[in-house]
Amino acid sequence: MSKLFAVIGNPIEHSRSPELHHAFAEKTGIDLNYVKRLAPLDGFTASVNEFFAHNGVGMNVTVPFKEQAFALCQQLTERAKIAKAVNTLWMENGILHGDNTDGQGLVDAIKALDWTLENTDILIIGAGGATRGVVYPLVKAGAKKIVIANRTRSRAEQLVADLQSAVPKAELSACSLDELDGQFDLVINATSASLTGDALILPETLTFHHAYEMAYGKPSSFIDQAKARQIPSSEGFGMLVGQAIEAFYIWNGVRPNLKDFL
Ligand code: ATR
Repeated sequence: MSKLFAVIGNPIEHSRSPELHHAFAEKTGIDLNYVKRLAPLDGFTASVNEFFAHNGVGMNVTVPFKEQAFALCQQLTERAKIAKAVNTLWMENGILHGDNTDGQGLVDAIKALDWTLENTDILIIGAGGATRGVVYPLVKAGAKKIVIANRTRSRAEQLVADLQSAVPKAELSACSLDELDGQFDLVINATSASLTGDALILPETLTFHHAYEMAYGKPSSFIDQAKARQIPSSEGFGMLVGQAIEAFYIWNGVRPNLKDFL
């Protein structure tokens, strides 16, 4: 019988996870069935319990349940503890385990582009859950300085205060979008601006060599500006594949090659 996996969210119809995991399975010769699971907004825990009670092996968690998944787990990886959000669940000896593969997915996607992270100065725009999940993996991969810029400056300051002790080797700082300035190796857009169709305007005094958009699937004014300046950029599909590969590896012990799926 094939191993059963699911991605749980609300909404869930748009998810590309089943398609990715079936492609990995075909490449690696693993027999699995990966389905979409719509949970009612007040029914996340019941849906997870029901899935694992009926021989489910692993679950990915997407919007808006990643924080609830974090709270539900009895065992968490270090990076999930720091992210305070979980996107990958599995059961081991009756204990619900959780991990967060989003940050490593971003790191792997950046490496697949042959952009270096070693000793880099990075600007992350946004200070929500998406930013929280990627700071620790970026520093582990070599980032030296990270500036977190946010429309609401206090949220960026709070995130820096929360995360600095988890990444003692890196220098974190906060600023507002009005204060954006200086030179960076890489700028990452971790805001939800493109998802809501809002423009994000970067000042000319901000210079950078690479641009990564984390919100895949919608037109992004951030990417448009990078392209207009002829700066190498990526619209986020690699991160989506990267986080899926990392989850596939946790569950199946085999790691597909990211570049095969871009
Ligand atoms: P996520 O979990 O995806 O990070 P979130 O916690 O809602 O979602 O955070 C969304 C981020 O996008 C926030 O940093 C938000 O800025 P504020 O903290 O000021 O709200 C940012 N954001 C959303 N729309 C934006 C816009 N139009 N311009 C700039 N930043 C925006």
